[in-house]
Amino acid sequence: MGAFKETVDGMKIILVVGARPNFMKIAPILEAIGLHNEKGRRPKMDPILVHTGQHYDHTMSDSFFEDLGLPRPDINLEVGSGSHAEQTGKVMMAFEPILQRERPDLVLVVGDVNSTLACTLTAKKLNIAVAHVEAGLRSGDMTMPEEINRKATDAIADFLFTTDRIADAHLVKEGIPNNRIFFEGNVMIDTLVKHRERSKQSTILETLGLRNGQGLHPYAVLTLHRPSNVDEPGTLSRICEALQEISLRLPVIFPCHPRTRARLDQFGLGDCFDGDSSRMRLISPLGYLDFLQLNSQASVILTDSGGIQEEATILGIPCLTLRENTERPITVTQGTNRLVGNKKETILKGVEWAMDQAGGTPQRPEKWDGRAAERIVERLAQIDRMNSAKFTRENSADWAPRNAAALLGHEVITSDLLSSQESR
Ligand code: UD1
Repeated sequence: MGAFKETVDGMKIILVVGARPNFMKIAPILEAIGLHNEKGRRPKMDPILVHTGQHYDHTMSDSFFEDLGLPRPDINLEVGSGSHAEQTGKVMMAFEPILQRERPDLVLVVGDVNSTLACTLTAKKLNIAVAHVEAGLRSGDMTMPEEINRKATDAIADFLFTTDRIADAHLVKEGIPNNRIFFEGNVMIDTLVKHRERSKQSTILETLGLRNGQGLHPYAVLTLHRPSNVDEPGTLSRICEALQEISLRLPVIFPCHPRTRARLDQFGLGDCFDGDSSRMRLISPLGYLDFLQLNSQASVILTDSGGIQEEATILGIPCLTLRENTERPITVTQGTNRLVGNKKETILKGVEWAMDQAGGTPQRPEKWDGRAAERIVERLAQIDRMNSAKFTRENSADWAPRNAAALLGHEVITSDLLSSQESR
């Protein structure tokens, strides 16, 4: 547990990370906060980084701190694995005393993992304002734990930062007032843009024998961890059959999530991937820079992850998503993504499509420009400035003076008011 931080006159923000896909979203926001402070902008922000410990292996957590230059977390709740209820409950119980001790002005959560929802619920029950970055994504599939986390978080968070206008529309349809929705872009792409050059120095292609004196050998990259793909033996076995057929055409590199590795062993499917020399190569999860380099040179990416669909779009690499739906439809309409489900025939058809794709110029959805975090931080500062005239620590009896009710009072903040300030 971290040491108590003295309250500053500025804005105290707790930023939450829990699982692998959170690290690349928080990194640019922390950096933007640093720049905001360096430039002497107001209010000064005092960030506290809390890691819930949902992911704890070196390959799933620490290596990302190293690659992304993230500071060590100020506080680690060390909750670890468990059932959904157990994990969510453990995060809530461990986070509550931190909030009571630190008394932040705002809790900022990202993405859709169990830690996102758990920290949002805990903060809101203490009447602390919550900002959700990557709000409004919807797959429409309530069997996905992430969809439940997204909808529940967005329903109660105060400030919803979205990655595209489709997400805005989902939120409006769910009855969220416009003055809580801010389309500022995709922070995950901020991280990709920042590290793309540096990732080219990775030697992962040579280490895996994919590039040598004769040049680059075509290959596919696979990631798989969704319960709907890996928890049922029949489904996982059918996916393995498809992969074996693909591997006759091009090697399949599979940085394997610990949950999937456990299922392969449990279902006796580990033999499908037989070691380093095989054309089906199961390897440990990779760090950010190695994985970015591996993806950027692939002929095709097969995945059930959310973020990888977005990264593939920016890299211009054909992406086959082994799901029936996506919460990121813009990667299909504007990007390189195709939904192929988890049936052998559709996966193989998808690979045919991918191999026919000529490498055109990748499209960039609006505001996926590497500056989303900067805009989010400035928006938060603006919201705080507008409220601090009325709600300051000094004139409030409560320790959570700029709480959600205050921040959302219509006389205090409306989108009209924000735009009129902007146009000054
Ligand atoms: C979680 C997120 C998912 C995200 C994924 C990225 C939820 C509901 N799901 O899924 O949205 O795409 O992270 O990886 O929050 N394990 C380890 N070491 C670790 C972490 C996990 O061995 O460092 C194993 C444990 O056996 C654990 C299992 O993986 O039970 C699942 O981990 P968990 O965090 O519960 O969910 P993910 O499947 O990783």
